Amino acid sequence: MKIIMLGAPGAGKGTQAKKIAAKYNIPHISTGDIFRANIKNGTELGNKAKTYMDQGLLVPDELVVDLVVDRVRQEDCVNGYVLDGFPRTIPQAEALDKALAAIGEKIDHAIDVNVPDENIVHRMSGRRACVGCGATYHLEYAPTKEEGICDACGKELILRDDDKPETVKKRLGVYHEQTQPLIDYYTNAGILKTVDGTIDINDVFQAIVDILGE
Ligand code: AP5
Ligand code: MG
Repeated sequence: MKIIMLGAPGAGKGTQAKKIAAKYNIPHISTGDIFRANIKNGTELGNKAKTYMDQGLLVPDELVVDLVVDRVRQEDCVNGYVLDGFPRTIPQAEALDKALAAIGEKIDHAIDVNVPDENIVHRMSGRRACVGCGATYHLEYAPTKEEGICDACGKELILRDDDKPETVKKRLGVYHEQTQPLIDYYTNAGILKTVDGTIDINDVFQAIVDILGE
C-alpha cells in the first residue's frame, strides 16, 4: 500500500503517518524528518535545507526528488510506504509518478488531512519535538507523561525553530500557493480522500483506517 499524506503544516500528517506505518507495517518516510536529521548531523544537504526551512520556504525540488525516489526503491518499501511531506509541489508529484511508472508502480491513496488555517497557529505553538528521536507531542492534545521529557527516549523536548507564529504564517502561505494544487492533481488521478483533521487524533486515525481497510 503506497500512501501520500497531504495537508497544511501542523494538520497532523506526521501524527497520522506514524500510526499508519505501525498498523500496516510499512515505513514512514517524512522529508521534513530527513532534513532535520541532516541538519542535526551537519551534512551538506542539511546546511542547504536549513536556510530555506528557517524562513518557512520549501527546499528546492532538485534537493528533494532524487532523495525520495532513491528511498522508495529500497528493500523495506516492497510492501508500500507512507510519504509524509512529499510531494509538496506539482513538479515533485509529476517526478514521483514518472519514477514509479518506470518500475510499473503507482500511488494507491492520497489522504488530505483537512484543518482550517485558524486552528493551525495555535496548534503549532503547542507542539513539542524530541531532540533525540524526533517524536512529536502537544502540550494540550498529546502530552507526555513527564513534562518536557520524551516518552519514547527520555530526551528533552523543544519548540521547532519553524513553529514560531511568524514562520508558521509564512509556511501556511507557501502551502496554499505551492502544495494545495496537489489536491486537484490527486482528485483528477481519482485517489484523493479527505479526512477532518480537527477532531480527536484517534478519531482522525479511525477515519483513515475506514479508507485504507482493516
Ligand atoms: P515538515 O516537517 O513536513 O513540516 P510541515 O508540512 O510544515 O508539517 P509539520 O510537520 O509541521 O506538521 P504535521 O502535519 O506533520 O503535523 P503534526 O502531526 O506534527 O517540513 C518542514 C520543512 O521542511 C518545510 O517547511 C520545508 O522547508 C521542508 N520540506 C519538507 N519536505 C519538503 C518537500 N517535499 N519539498 C520542499 N521542502 C520540504 O501535528 C502538529 C501538532 O498538532 C502536534 O503537536 C500534534 O501533537 C498535534 N495534533 C495532531 N493531530 C491533532 C488533532 N487531531 N487534534 C489536536 N492536536 C493534534
Ligand atoms: Mg510533520
